[in-house]
Amino acid sequence: MELTTYAVLVALAAVSGVINGWVIWRWLRRKHKKRKLKRLRQQQEAELVAGRRFSGDASHVSADHIQTLHAVSVERTLRPEAWEDDISENTLDAAPFENSEPICVSPIADVLKRRGAMKLTAGIGSEALAGMIANDHLPIPSGSDREGYNSASDLDYWLGGLEDYLKVMEVARQYAVEPRSVLDFGCSSGRLVRHYVAQTEIPEIWGADINARHIRWLSEFLPDRVKPIANHCLPTLPIRDNSVDIVTAFSVFTHIDTFENCWLAELARILHDDGFAYLTVHNEDTWSLLRDQIDNPANRLVQSLLRIDPEIAEKLQQPLADRRSSYRFTQVGPYRAQVFHSNNYLRNVWGRFFKVEAILPEHHVRQTVVVLRKR
Ligand SMILES: C[S@@+](CC[C@H](N)C(=O)[O-])C[C@H]1O[C@@H](n2cnc3c(N)ncnc32)[C@H](O)[C@@H]1O
Repeated sequence: MELTTYAVLVALAAVSGVINGWVIWRWLRRKHKKRKLKRLRQQQEAELVAGRRFSGDASHVSADHIQTLHAVSVERTLRPEAWEDDISENTLDAAPFENSEPICVSPIADVLKRRGAMKLTAGIGSEALAGMIANDHLPIPSGSDREGYNSASDLDYWLGGLEDYLKVMEVARQYAVEPRSVLDFGCSSGRLVRHYVAQTEIPEIWGADINARHIRWLSEFLPDRVKPIANHCLPTLPIRDNSVDIVTAFSVFTHIDTFENCWLAELARILHDDGFAYLTVHNEDTWSLLRDQIDNPANRLVQSLLRIDPEIAEKLQQPLADRRSSYRFTQVGPYRAQVFHSNNYLRNVWGRFFKVEAILPEHHVRQTVVVLRKR
């Protein structure tokens, strides 16, 4: 064989070796990736089956896979497809309500003692408090129908709601608002609404929630002047423009993952020119209060943040990011997100929908209250 032919053959063999090697390497790599993805899927499905949520960055999960997860979760928990039906607890639970006795049958001494222990309703004298207890003949929803608010103690639940009601009415006094129409957005089973009913004669009390079971509770146990609304996830309320004097939302914008601005616009639309909105958020004050709570297994906010982000303890040592941050921890199921807002964000973005009048830290447990008026 001539030298040149020999050289060409050697070169051809080398090139084909390289090509074969490259093809085999690509094949092995693809196989490895597939195996890794399969392991991840199995792990996530096992978590779902075990009732745990999957956490962390979901960006590697394909749309198909999310559908599979959803199907598994629907199968295991009879969870339907609609967004509204699983965004908070027990929404499709059709079981009859198991209420407790109204507060007016509790011995007043117990309520006063408990109020002292909790340091609640400090500005209210014992006689005035006794009058408020006597006014409230409404049943108390069971602990499982209260979205985690003092589920172990009816008294604490009632006092906590009363404290928020009194704070809202204090702002009404400051602005000389005499409400004829109020809305509690994300009202649950009436933790605040019941106090409007028992303590005032406000003729129109709207209670809106995405959770249909809560709205059923309001319809069954509260009088006609309460208008219960099971709202859609898309921001729209069947309420007239410029008609509501006080709009409240306790611990709702802390969980609204999408459509936040649309909800702000919708609430601004229905707010009366002279009225105010009283909405709670997690802001930098909440963030710094969480630093001491990182080892507290009873703190639900810290526990859910830990599930989402294993580095949260270190992040809490830094200032809160100067923006809106949504810690999203599941694709399906209740309380999908924990949302934080910096004060600058509230002023810059919420300030486009409302005039930001006050930002009041720790005004609703660890949450901050934002007081807003019409622009
Ligand atoms: C943490 S709970 C607070 C309940 C109530 N505000 C209270 O103070 O007892 C949040 C409530 O907001 C409701 N919610 C969440 N997203 C909502 C939305 N987009 N529209 C209406 N309600 C919503 C939930 O169903 C739940 O009842």
